Amino acid sequence: MKYGFFDDINKEYVITTPKTPLPWINYLGSKDFFGIISNTAGGYDFYKDAKLLRLTRYRYNNCPYDSNGRYYYIKDNENVWNPGWQPTQTPLDSYECRHGLGYSTFESSKNNLRAKLTAFVPIKDNVEINKLELTNDSENVKTLDLFSYVEFCLWNAEDDCTNFQRNFSTGEVEIIGSTIYHKTEYRERRNHYAIYHVNHEIDGFDTDRATFTGFYNSPANPDAVNEGISRNSVAHGWSPIGSHHLKVTLQPNESVSFIFLLGYCENKQEEKFEALNVINKAPAKELIAKYSTDEQVDTALKELKDYWNSLLSKFNVETGNEKLNRSVNIWNQYQCMVTFNMSRSASYYESGMGRGMGFRDSSQDLLGFVHLIPSRARERIIDIANTQFEDGSAYHQYQPLTKTGNLNVGSGFNDDPLWLIAGTCAYIKETGDYTILDEECTFNSDSTNKASLFEHLRRSFNYTVTHKGPHGLPLIGRADWNDCLNLNCFSDTPGESFQTTGPSSGPVAESVFIAGLFVKYGKEYVTLCNELGLDEEATACEKEIDTMIEAITTHGWDGKWFIRAFDANSNPVGSHVNEEGQIFIESQGMCVMAEIGLDNGMALDALNSVKEKLDTKYGIMLQQPAYSTYHLELGEISSYPPGYKENAGIFCHNNPWIVCSETIVGHGNRAFELYKKTNPVFLEDIEDIHRTEPYAFCQMVAGKDAPSFGEGKNSWLTGTAAWTFATISQFILGIKPDFKGLRIDPCIPSDWDKYDCVRVFRGKTYNIHVLNPEHVEKGVKSIKVNGTLLSSTIIDPVLGTNTVEVEVVLG
Ligand code: BGC
Ligand code: NOJ
Repeated sequence: MKYGFFDDINKEYVITTPKTPLPWINYLGSKDFFGIISNTAGGYDFYKDAKLLRLTRYRYNNCPYDSNGRYYYIKDNENVWNPGWQPTQTPLDSYECRHGLGYSTFESSKNNLRAKLTAFVPIKDNVEINKLELTNDSENVKTLDLFSYVEFCLWNAEDDCTNFQRNFSTGEVEIIGSTIYHKTEYRERRNHYAIYHVNHEIDGFDTDRATFTGFYNSPANPDAVNEGISRNSVAHGWSPIGSHHLKVTLQPNESVSFIFLLGYCENKQEEKFEALNVINKAPAKELIAKYSTDEQVDTALKELKDYWNSLLSKFNVETGNEKLNRSVNIWNQYQCMVTFNMSRSASYYESGMGRGMGFRDSSQDLLGFVHLIPSRARERIIDIANTQFEDGSAYHQYQPLTKTGNLNVGSGFNDDPLWLIAGTCAYIKETGDYTILDEECTFNSDSTNKASLFEHLRRSFNYTVTHKGPHGLPLIGRADWNDCLNLNCFSDTPGESFQTTGPSSGPVAESVFIAGLFVKYGKEYVTLCNELGLDEEATACEKEIDTMIEAITTHGWDGKWFIRAFDANSNPVGSHVNEEGQIFIESQGMCVMAEIGLDNGMALDALNSVKEKLDTKYGIMLQQPAYSTYHLELGEISSYPPGYKENAGIFCHNNPWIVCSETIVGHGNRAFELYKKTNPVFLEDIEDIHRTEPYAFCQMVAGKDAPSFGEGKNSWLTGTAAWTFATISQFILGIKPDFKGLRIDPCIPSDWDKYDCVRVFRGKTYNIHVLNPEHVEKGVKSIKVNGTLLSSTIIDPVLGTNTVEVEVVLG
């Protein structure tokens, strides 16, 4: 069954039933204030940090799964319904949810009353705007009651859902006119509060949840709404909510609009109060004044749409394939922005309380984001570097608000440091801005201990050089990219965290994956050294890279594919000698991307083995055969039932590594075939199997060993977004930012005749036309720039005018 369709003109996905297989969500907000919103208007808002500054409550793991949101109840005589269907679930006469770029709309009707709810966060302010328009399509006058509803979170989301003995006594609000102020903990150490406001005079309000719903009822059937009477409750402790009551009379064909604002306001410490424990409302008044009329709100929505149109105009491709265009031009880039903003913090599968910003995750997210807003990528690189330790190792995660490393998880994931080189080089290739290397960045957020970003990268490189095991391969530490290959963990106690148990690094367990990563990004580090005139260092590093390649080909090769690792007993993992877990995707992808084995057949053999042993109709599995029992010496990977997550699931993040590798060996047909397998836009027709949003990549699709083979899980916050965008744009379409300019080197399906691409690069707009008259998969015959033939595949960024015409002929 199909649950909706793409509207490419408006850059929207249109959902036609509230009963999607899973909640299909969208993100509001672009910089500091964010909201998650599902197709039933569920979700929550936060400012900067989903753990520390959460405005509204959401109950994960609830029943139904998607409970709590910004809810509007319409009471039209005996009919009580919501424009997003939840929470009353009253059957609607019509329903349509449109998820657009940074906004969502819900248009529904019941009994000849039409409601249109538009939700978005304007670019400039920390507020979620909900514009609700009601239209009377009947021939009679309608007298209605409208109730709004949000439930406040007491700011720290973790504390909010654990520390009830305290929290049931701390909640505080103020109600002035049509504005509800949520001010819990403002009397003590907080200098911020939330507002929930409507631009009409109200007929009542509620701020105490149990009074609004009735103690034994829920938001699905609140007493106040059923009776059509607000209680004017003032919350003292318990669960503060915001609810307005508005009586509405509509003549036939008449419409009315309401603007609700859920905003975050901050005061200077010395300006917190206007009277004893009365909050200073100046910032709230200022915010409200900016979004009080339809015109103001419509203008702000237009600004948001213009903002997205301008961002997406930086990369736009026209191929003969509508789905490909849709994915590349709209949804994949959009998701890259979302993963850049969220890292792995807040989604419907990430609670916002756990993981914050990942060192490796955010570094990789940059690969798909940097072309959109390079200046923000620059800031992020510096934030990440600031958390690195002096010896080059890294905190695995940091908190977005404090920007300091997360002590609970600590460090010891030995691939982490190298990803900083990857992210920084992506930034320099995009912008040509080498000055970032001079930026002083702290170690472990200690402002008295700083060194240049370049010095940080040097320490990243040297960390691998100085942490090798018996085969000369990098020590894995707690784990590498595969968080679940915990070779030094040896956990036999239920409930222990696989991520942090055991010695953080043993002297033996080694990773072939990190070895490949070191070769790939080590080469980029060498380019930086050369650029900075550090010739001796460059030569020394090249030697280290050669030594690593030697170690990989001598000890890391299994005969037909790359071994994955050596465990703490120095036994191979991912080898034909293993009974299960004989071949892993990661080392094949990373080693071929690092161009290891291109000259001796290893690369081709590795890719053939992937095809033979790991490929399925839904994508490439992480490893095979799946572990059927728990292995103490392997850790979390073997804790998952076969076919799920790292235990032989189809991990979408490293599927593009194989796609990319296939382009490196010139297989355009195979690369595109694989590209399509995990791309949700191409899976719209199998939604009953796939289940997650058709417009967002998910982290994992259940592998062939799982009963639910093909089922997507954990959508949105995954490195899949960035890696897929980098792969399709740079390796298939072949438009690749390089240190010296824009390189054009496509690897496409042989049946493509041509495609066009607009690429904004270092301030110029390149109109690129690629022709494939001989139907090859790879190979550039000629490139003309503004009519002049080039002698290489790199376009020098100083060449040409502001708009550059590029004609590429393959053959
Ligand atoms: C998951 C990994 C994830 C890790 C993060 C594990 O349970 O399987 O995908 O990276 O947790 O802590
Ligand atoms: C998800 C994590 O966010 C990422 O860092 C890790 O590489 C993958 N899981 C694989 O374990």
